[in-house]
Amino acid sequence: MRFPHDFFFGAASAAYQVEGAWNEDGKGVSNWDVFSKIPGKTFEGTNGDIAVDHYHRYKEDIRLMAEMGLESYRFSVAWTRIIPDGDGEINSQGLAFYNALIDECLHYGIVPFVTLYHWDLPQVLEEAGGWTNKRTVDAFCKYATTCFKAFGDRVKHWITFNETIVFCSLGYLDGAHPPGISHNPRLYFQATHNVFVAHARAVQEYKKLRQYGEIGITHVFSPAFPADGQLENAQAADHANQYSLAWFYDPILKGAYPDYVVGQLKERGWTPDWTAEELTVLKWAAPKNDFIGLNYYQPQRVIKNNPEEEAGPASHKVIAGAPGKVSFDRVYKTVSLEDKKYTKWGWEISPEGLLEGLRMLRGAYGDIKLYITENGLGDQDPVENGQILDADRVEYIREHLKAVKQGLREGLHIKGYYAWSAIDLLSWLNGFKKQYGFIYVDQQNNLARKKKLSFDWYKQVIANRGGEL
Ligand code: NOJ
Repeated sequence: MRFPHDFFFGAASAAYQVEGAWNEDGKGVSNWDVFSKIPGKTFEGTNGDIAVDHYHRYKEDIRLMAEMGLESYRFSVAWTRIIPDGDGEINSQGLAFYNALIDECLHYGIVPFVTLYHWDLPQVLEEAGGWTNKRTVDAFCKYATTCFKAFGDRVKHWITFNETIVFCSLGYLDGAHPPGISHNPRLYFQATHNVFVAHARAVQEYKKLRQYGEIGITHVFSPAFPADGQLENAQAADHANQYSLAWFYDPILKGAYPDYVVGQLKERGWTPDWTAEELTVLKWAAPKNDFIGLNYYQPQRVIKNNPEEEAGPASHKVIAGAPGKVSFDRVYKTVSLEDKKYTKWGWEISPEGLLEGLRMLRGAYGDIKLYITENGLGDQDPVENGQILDADRVEYIREHLKAVKQGLREGLHIKGYYAWSAIDLLSWLNGFKKQYGFIYVDQQNNLARKKKLSFDWYKQVIANRGGEL
């Protein structure tokens, strides 16, 4: 079976991770420009000042993507290039850059798929409370509308936000991303709610303009499965799915929050400050939302968190020595299992988890339109005689594409697959230690681009429309 002709074979990136040129052509300062420079926040103090210099080399990069046969390129717009202080004047040089990038894609027949928010918030807004402040919602709507008006004649696919769970939880629970706040569930839930309202209002604005494209959101897709057959672990997995899946997918797709979580937030004093009007906007926007983008890397293997067991031997035979990560509410733990495969960074490799998760999603939300907006292998790529032989990446993507194909056979409406990433890029916290791209960036040689083994492989896959996976 080949993939349908209206299915996009794509690849993705994000502005902060590739562009560089952090203070050029009128760009404002983002929270990441500031946060990454605080000592100790990132590996060896790496930051996106230069990243992989895509801002200056986009023509070469798009040409390579075209050579690979890429059908669609997912990239993000840096808010600080368009409205440098977040809420004020529009910067025409910022518009010019993305106009040029979009036109370059279209020149080669590559369909641009644009993310409006991939984590780089204007610093001025961050200092005023970031996503916990409702003024950020208004500012986002203005920024989003500016982008629709400037680029919407050529961009027909929009993603409002990338991975709300990640930037909100790392920002307000783990303190690892800006604004670097830890253990604050109240702020965490407030920030997520404000983001959902911003999404809904952007959908509203977009539909008003009648540009006849599509708009959706990209979420982490990390379905939780119990680590074994014990009832308490099945319950723990359900709880994990309520908090990490339903809390994020329900307001977008059903226009209302899941009762289970709402009830618990009330008991725990974490209910966001929400107005009736905001809840109505969510309701209104849900049926107008065109698709959900899924970023799938791994499932969660869940056990109940039994603190009394922590000192003693693990009672779950399936669980390897790894201690596991306790959820922020201490109800469950995500663990590594002895019979699963993991990447060098300890991420489970599970194409079957994708398929099972997709079936679960269909059970919860019906036949919605889906894109896999990210999936890929972070690795230290082997270089032999100047060749980048990333056979493990080929294997990883092949297996996940097979899972997507099986999903299509089962009638799921998956309209595209975007590998993360088109080109090696900066990892937010890990610098350049791990690579994800089809295109290698030589850090020792002036950021020169080179095709990897996976480049030629993906080219074949696209040319055959996935017929011979
Ligand atoms: C998801 C994020 O969207 C992206 O920015 C990040 O680099 C990848 N995951 C890999 O961790």
